[in-house]
Amino acid sequence: MINKAIILAGGKGTRMSPLTKAVNKQLLPIYDKPLIFYPLSILMLAKIKDILIIVNKGQLNQYKKVLPDGKRLGINIVYKEQQYPKGLPDAFLLGEKFINNKNVALILGDNFFYGQNLTSKLINCTKLKSGAKIILHKVIKPELFGVASTSRSGKILSIKEKPKKYISDMAITGLYFFDKKVVEYAKKLKPSSRNELEITDLLKFYLKKKKLTSDILGRGGAWLDTGSIEDFYKTSAFVSAIENRQGFKIACLEEIAFNNKWIGKKEVLDAIQFYGKCEYTNYLKKLIA
Ligand code: TTP
Repeated sequence: MINKAIILAGGKGTRMSPLTKAVNKQLLPIYDKPLIFYPLSILMLAKIKDILIIVNKGQLNQYKKVLPDGKRLGINIVYKEQQYPKGLPDAFLLGEKFINNKNVALILGDNFFYGQNLTSKLINCTKLKSGAKIILHKVIKPELFGVASTSRSGKILSIKEKPKKYISDMAITGLYFFDKKVVEYAKKLKPSSRNELEITDLLKFYLKKKKLTSDILGRGGAWLDTGSIEDFYKTSAFVSAIENRQGFKIACLEEIAFNNKWIGKKEVLDAIQFYGKCEYTNYLKKLIA
């Protein structure tokens, strides 16, 4: 079972400069909410309540302004600062105490997931007992991503970071589920030629032991990596289109917590106070009406 997760919400944000010079990428708006709400909502949909958010050194106060300790959401949020972006597996070194020898999920702070049946898929992934599980999604330009080739039965045959030669068009998304061995493996990693610890190297430990499995987010689902300006605005447009057509919000944290019965009306009213007069608040009012 997986009850704990880490959100990696630091990073240089080079591709989004100058937007990211003063403000971390995950605090910038995807339409009507800060980007960090979206990966957090995915963990909450997976019914994970114990969450570590890793942020850049010096940026903790900004995060706490919008997401304090999680009480208002009926969850536990703790923070840890990363000295500088050492690579994705650094999450497990920084998070060793938080992980406390348990299984753990990791989501990248700039990854956006949406789609029908996503919740049941996520809950299924949290049932992982041993090994690691990755979520794959078809892309047109696999050379820009970490990719995995699979057998017909879905077994992972190989993984490669930004392959120059085609091996598969299934990208490895930024949502991972690991057993407790992950900390031990992360400690064995050496920095790559770009001087970062690489998640593909970490996954290879599991692959070698035939312990790496996958699930597919199919064509009915969307996975968007909001790392570039263009993708950032495309994701914003996507959220705006869905929300304004359906009237449902994507990643309204209080709505998810309320539906999970983690909070009641009182906490939603507290949230209304906290956000003040805005459209998000109007939505919360409708939720408890
Ligand atoms: P990236 O997109 O690889 O990096 P970045 O966000 O710094 O952007 P750029 O490439 O434009 O410089 O990171 C993926 C996510 O993981 C992103 O949300 C930032 C986060 N991250 C960390 O928190 N710590 C790290 O050490 C790394 C490498 C990334």
